[in-house]
Amino acid sequence: MNSNKLEKARQIELEKEALIGEKDKPMFHLCPRAGWMNDPNGFSYYNGEYHLFYQYNPYNSYWDTMHWGHAVSRTLMRWSYRPAALAPDHPYDEGGCYSGSAVEMPDGRQLIMYTGLRAPKDAGEELEAASLQDKFMQCQNLAFGDGTDYVKYDKNPVIDCNDLPEGFSRIDFRDPKIIRQKDGSYLCLIAGRAADEDGQIYLFKSRDCISWKYWKVLIKNEGRFGIMWECPDFFELDGKQILLASPMEMAPKGLEYHNGAGSLCLAGEYDEETGTFTPQYDQAIDYGIDFYAAQTILTPDGRRVMIAWMQNWDTCLMRDKRAPWAGQMTLPRELSFRDGRLYQQPIREMEIYYTNSVSYRKVPVFDEISLYAVEGRTIDLDLTVRPVPGEPVYRKFSVWFAMDPVTRIHTAVRFTPVDGTVKIDRKYAGSRKALVHQRRCLVPESMDGNIRMRIILDRYSCEVFINDGRYVMSAVIFTDLSAEKICFRTEGKAIIDVTKKEISL
Ligand code: FRU
Repeated sequence: MNSNKLEKARQIELEKEALIGEKDKPMFHLCPRAGWMNDPNGFSYYNGEYHLFYQYNPYNSYWDTMHWGHAVSRTLMRWSYRPAALAPDHPYDEGGCYSGSAVEMPDGRQLIMYTGLRAPKDAGEELEAASLQDKFMQCQNLAFGDGTDYVKYDKNPVIDCNDLPEGFSRIDFRDPKIIRQKDGSYLCLIAGRAADEDGQIYLFKSRDCISWKYWKVLIKNEGRFGIMWECPDFFELDGKQILLASPMEMAPKGLEYHNGAGSLCLAGEYDEETGTFTPQYDQAIDYGIDFYAAQTILTPDGRRVMIAWMQNWDTCLMRDKRAPWAGQMTLPRELSFRDGRLYQQPIREMEIYYTNSVSYRKVPVFDEISLYAVEGRTIDLDLTVRPVPGEPVYRKFSVWFAMDPVTRIHTAVRFTPVDGTVKIDRKYAGSRKALVHQRRCLVPESMDGNIRMRIILDRYSCEVFINDGRYVMSAVIFTDLSAEKICFRTEGKAIIDVTKKEISL
């Protein structure tokens, strides 16, 4: 039996969804069925389909008491919605069903583990600090399902904040990521904070995925990357162990990390016996404006695929509260690790949906040029830029897209070889909000003027994959869809190869 709260959420999402036009949503990026979306949750493969749940408020286009929305796909490109999976309908989660993960149980059921926030959102206002601790405690809960309906475990919570060692925060304890071990047992990573407020990631262990035991702190931030790290993920990739996390309140470090809600990839060695992780490399996952809370899966054919919320807590105001939906996911990205770096490539299933391809080779660019049929807002644009042999390297190269030729509204990606920076710039994309509209990324290996960029546009977003995915920059844009022209601009002379493929589901 579903609770009234879940039934009501399922009813409202149907009503609200019916009011949203098809073209008002992205074509192949998942956005909420209605209302608000943040983190991807429970990204998994179950019964022949990919499942993606998400932090969800079906009632309004802003964050509020969290539910879990749900969608499925066979290609990771074309999504169909399932009814909302979880509503905050028990005393241990009445403040919200926060982020978590999903695995398939040996008995064939799909298991979700998520964080429950005990108190309703506003309950704390008049409370004394001491009792606020009790009210806002976070705990980890289970729900079992068949791919559509999920029943909460009657012995929830299965991990209580009081299971943590003395002194660790009880109110910052969330985002469980379950990992099935080779021996059939389970590990769970959970984000938290030490007594000194510093972020840390815990490991819990279980034989059956139901009863859990605290094991140890996997890693402590030591004040390096922001404060708390949210939404951890942990996996092996090309011989390295990778930890992904989303640090809150980062301080900038050159062009590697920017202020505010960030993304972090640590790569190193891991000793399974002792649970010892020794990071050797650190980097941002995405250098653009909108990216947070990444989660990965291993596909049946062995690819490590990542998806993230294409937004973050500092840029939420890009979307008006009255918009019929807010928040979208990134494109699923295939990960690999080489030369000490995390590489990302658009999911290869995208190729199924290519139509109308057009290519140009060795096009000289000086000043500004547009190419016939190179335009659109649901495209994969592959661009290689080179200097002219025997001539000085161009000073700047830009591509403008989502452009209106009359008003000159556009979003730009600009490369400056002399300092090796790529800038994503949506300042002139039509926004009237005082938010971050530009961000830069350092691409030192391209200072000789050779750079490759693959730009994926899907109506209200752009994702730029630089040098075969060595760096990625993502940003949402809400420019009117009639702005679909593209032009290439240089200061100095450059030569470009361009291939544009239209994407159509
Ligand atoms: C990350 C996050 C998570 C939490 C969820 C709440 O974006 O803050 O830590 O579980 O969002 O919606």
